[in-house]
Amino acid sequence: MTDTKQTVVEGVEALTLNGKSDAEAVETATDAVGAETTTTNADDVVDPWNVASSNDAGIDYDKLIKRFGSSKIDAELIARFEKITGKPAHHFIRRGIFFSHRDLHTILTLHEQGKPFYLYTGRGPSSGSLHMGHLVPFIMTKWLQETFNVPLIIQLTDDEKTLWKDLKIEEAIKLARENAKDIVAMGFDLNKTFIFNNLEFMGKCPALYQNIIRIQKCVTFNQVKGIFGFGDSDIIGKIGFPAAQAAPALSSTFPFIFGNKKVHCLIPCAIDQDPYFRMTRDVAPRLGFPKCALIHSSFFPALQGAKTKMSASEQNSAVFLTDTPKQIKNKINKYAFSGGRTTVEEHRQLGGIPEIDVAYQLLKFFLEDDDKLEEVRVAYGKGEMLTGEIKKLAIETVTPIVEQHQAARKLVTDEVLDKYFEIRSLKFGS
Ligand code: TRP
Repeated sequence: MTDTKQTVVEGVEALTLNGKSDAEAVETATDAVGAETTTTNADDVVDPWNVASSNDAGIDYDKLIKRFGSSKIDAELIARFEKITGKPAHHFIRRGIFFSHRDLHTILTLHEQGKPFYLYTGRGPSSGSLHMGHLVPFIMTKWLQETFNVPLIIQLTDDEKTLWKDLKIEEAIKLARENAKDIVAMGFDLNKTFIFNNLEFMGKCPALYQNIIRIQKCVTFNQVKGIFGFGDSDIIGKIGFPAAQAAPALSSTFPFIFGNKKVHCLIPCAIDQDPYFRMTRDVAPRLGFPKCALIHSSFFPALQGAKTKMSASEQNSAVFLTDTPKQIKNKINKYAFSGGRTTVEEHRQLGGIPEIDVAYQLLKFFLEDDDKLEEVRVAYGKGEMLTGEIKKLAIETVTPIVEQHQAARKLVTDEVLDKYFEIRSLKFGS
């Protein structure tokens, strides 16, 4: 009982993620205004390890916002964003791919006042090659870094993957380095970007371990059970791990970059990572730090449809960054779930359904030209454009992105990579 008194997790945000209400969270739900406390959307499963919906159009994101207690990125916020940055918002934001946030207004106000903040994101290295869905948070992060001209921290959680998967420490470290090459290939500015993997950095940075312990001291087993659904037979490494993902959101974890300044942090991530940061936001003020701000993306659909997300462990669910043009073509033609009709006649008559069509979804993520995208949506919806045609356009859009990535990755040698991992100060501002 004392557990609940000690730590008030952010109101209803502490609900378990499978939609079940957690008695403890409800009891302490102080800012639960407008949030659901009952099981209203049991069909969608969203947690850091599972994403599944029974609906062809995928997860109901508006319901998810309510359930998680985050806020929608609405037209008004986008307008403020554009006013303050003086340029159009990225198409991921304009098209609702990054659709939810926490405290983004605070970050915009800081920028308006010329005050600093930093970006933090990460990746759990579970496979050697990344797929296109993995690019999404990093494309967003890179654009934010360029737009706001701020330092960026990238955490590779090789410890997490060792704990959760059948993966040896040595293998996880190797995967972290391989994945880091893909990340560096996206063109992050070396002067403003620090990358680390937990399994190696932990021993080089006492401040990281010290913050992990500070965080672990603030969160009870009851609370992580409520937030992550851990059970009595889960290994203790899993139970302690959330603190390792939370720590980089406190600027004092990186004294070589921030000194002892308490700098605000903005985290771009897929919405399944939100549980970690609900916990972080609860703990931060108690340790004397500002709450991290977040912008959340929706999921990149599996080729088989938006009921699940692209997965590196399902070869045919994803376009990999290592795929050849021929493989990309075959995969999209063979597997991309179609919102078209069974016969051409029917399709011409009734039109296709872009919202559930994976080729259209690929275009929504990767075709930058707004006018062209709208043209496609209308033509496909009216049946003027056929499934074969929309798939062809998706293939033509995705292939050069993968080819360019492969060329850039070739240039990332071990020496280049090491520079990003070097413990050093980063440049703020221009
Ligand atoms: N847990 C994340 C994953 O499995 C990796 C990660 C660590 C992360 N820190 C992060 C993701 C910060 C987003 C933001 O992919």
